[in-house]
Amino acid sequence: MTATVTTRVAIIGAGPAGLLLSHLLADAGIESVVIDQRTREEIENTIRAGILEEGTVGVLSSSGASDRVVTAASRHEGIELRFAGEGYRIDFAALVGRAVYLYPQHEVLKDLIRARLAGGQDLRFGVTAQRVEGAGTDRPAVIATDAEGRTLTIEAEFVVGADGSRSVARAAVSGSSTGGYFREYPFAWFGILCEAPPSSEELIYSNSPDGFALISQRSATVQRMYFQCDPDTDPAAYSEEQLWDELQKRVPGTTLAQGPIFQRDVLRFRSFVAHELLKGRVALIGDAAHTVPPTGAKGMNLAVADVVVLEKALRALLLEDDSRPLEAFPEKALHRIWKAQHFSWWMTSMLHVAPDASDFDRRRQLGELRSVVESEHGRAYLAEAYTGWPLEGLT
Ligand code: DHB
Repeated sequence: MTATVTTRVAIIGAGPAGLLLSHLLADAGIESVVIDQRTREEIENTIRAGILEEGTVGVLSSSGASDRVVTAASRHEGIELRFAGEGYRIDFAALVGRAVYLYPQHEVLKDLIRARLAGGQDLRFGVTAQRVEGAGTDRPAVIATDAEGRTLTIEAEFVVGADGSRSVARAAVSGSSTGGYFREYPFAWFGILCEAPPSSEELIYSNSPDGFALISQRSATVQRMYFQCDPDTDPAAYSEEQLWDELQKRVPGTTLAQGPIFQRDVLRFRSFVAHELLKGRVALIGDAAHTVPPTGAKGMNLAVADVVVLEKALRALLLEDDSRPLEAFPEKALHRIWKAQHFSWWMTSMLHVAPDASDFDRRRQLGELRSVVESEHGRAYLAEAYTGWPLEGLT
């Protein structure tokens, strides 16, 4: 059995990028269909990063996508870098007059899904995109399979691949599902969620001889923490006591408040940018277009920045028949993407201990960390990138 639906914009992927794009398009009177192979529960319950740039919060709240991002998020005006037994505060507010907000990505997704369904969005879960056809024509289409195995064809004026790092749309844009500029890292993060009070007021990014650790937060009673591990680590291989030992030895000077660990995962590190972001009437955004290692939490923020640029381009194309903003989309988006790629790589390499690091590498790394924390310009560079370059710069 096959079914065909027709819409203006077909969006593959109900993650932050796809949902926010459909929300902004609806505001402009442009209808879209969003599909995702996952169930709503899976999307709403997958644990991801928790840091939103001020610009991201602005877009989510001003568009009506999320009110809770303003009322429920906690504002962080700095972070601590810790190394060689000392902590150094990076004071975002004093250095660049901005802050970041701690609000978990799955909460953003809950808000977006609720807003989209309340707005009458055609949002289909359990529908798997198989391929995108007709990128070079005025009627591109997504060929998908629904949960019962029936074929669904979505004919549109434009197709957006917001379908994550294993994007199906990528093949139609860059000619290959894997083609891109990429870098792998010889380490990963072991992430935990635990029931405990916060161990410090602000996030701690700690470089120690035993490897990196990040002490993050979720709420007054739930904390998120990570420590550097081998990419092949089995999350079940550690006892709770071993996990606390690993974390604690990487943050000397702070006694971690411990509590039951109720979630654990291993996050692999990768930097990736697709060779092409646009072909004819198919574009890639979010993780389909690029992946960053998690240090610095740029992933979702970068997805939102892509959406801001693409949405304006689609409005010009579909409402005014002006294709120039769309032609400029890849270059505009890539400008920020490569800055964020650099920042994520830099934070990662400055703070982690590579398995093959020599004594020279180790001492050079401490020199680099000192160059940053002892210089107002160094701290300001970190603060500017961490809190996010203004979105206005994209317009
Ligand atoms: C979190 C994740 C990050 O990658 C980061 O840099 C800061 C916080 C988090 O999940 O809380």
